[in-house]
Amino acid sequence: MLPRMEEIKQQVEAALDTAMSDLPAGDLADAMRYACVGGKKMRAFLVMESARLHGVADEAALPVAAAVEALHAYSLVHDDLPAMDNDDLRRGMPTVHIQWSEATAILAGDALQTLAFRLLSDPAIGDAEARLRLIPAFARAVGGNGMVHGQMLDIAAEQATTPLDLAGIKRMQAAKTGALIIFAAEAGALIAGDDGEALRDYAANLGLAFQIHDDVLDVTGDEETIGKRVGKDAQAGKATFVSLLGLETARSRAAELTERAVSALSPYGDKADNLRELARFVIDRQS
Ligand code: IPE
Ligand code: IPE
Ligand code: MG
Ligand code: MG
Ligand code: MG
Repeated sequence: MLPRMEEIKQQVEAALDTAMSDLPAGDLADAMRYACVGGKKMRAFLVMESARLHGVADEAALPVAAAVEALHAYSLVHDDLPAMDNDDLRRGMPTVHIQWSEATAILAGDALQTLAFRLLSDPAIGDAEARLRLIPAFARAVGGNGMVHGQMLDIAAEQATTPLDLAGIKRMQAAKTGALIIFAAEAGALIAGDDGEALRDYAANLGLAFQIHDDVLDVTGDEETIGKRVGKDAQAGKATFVSLLGLETARSRAAELTERAVSALSPYGDKADNLRELARFVIDRQS
């Protein structure tokens, strides 16, 4: 992981821990905390770096980064449930429903989602107008127009008789993974009340490259390094970028998208080098 990523990961995990310090002790609180630990915290990195580009202080951006990661953690807890991808390993640890129970995993996910919205209402972010720019954009990115919609398309495709074609997979990716990544990358501009067009363009390309590489890792990854089961997509008969394009074309497509993401940042000059570095990391990562 990039050094700046490690730094942000620690800050965000600490912020999430503080945000959950008032939870009644018990399995729900334990499962919620467990689900927030580990991972790359890439979406938090996008929030923190886009904030810096728009002159937003780290302390103002941190609750937004924590909100995005709480929401992402919930999406993973539910993604791993038996009714969804039925996974027993996440971030190198047993999934929440294995460690506790299915009911606990459903409820921990629910509570992490509402925690995300509470974090976005934190006055440390800025005035009410800034927070009201974030909240509806976030809701669109993660709900029935965004992540949840994408998850539904993913599950529906698994059960359909004809697999998705490339356009269908792209539509699914844009909702499932893309929308939250775009929100995270645009967050700095949204807090500042600036135009986020270049960041959206960057993130649309980055998000697609990210999901293609996620599909590549499901085929080529090493379980120990990646911290989740591999070979699951093929086993479930999922149409992925790899099943559609083949490994080599998928890899070169991801590399092209990365270069497009990097170019989209030109209005920011070398101030955006950390975001450029992230784009290259996304297609080189092994986990
Ligand atoms: C995995 O996301 C789920 C997808 C959207 C493909 P990440 O690869 O960002 O997972 P963590 O947070 O680093 O564990
Ligand atoms: C999950 O996609 C995306 C979300 C949780 C929104 P995947 O099912 O491909 O993610 P992994 O591979 O289990 O991390
Ligand atoms: Mg899934
Ligand atoms: Mg999954
Ligand atoms: Mg995957």
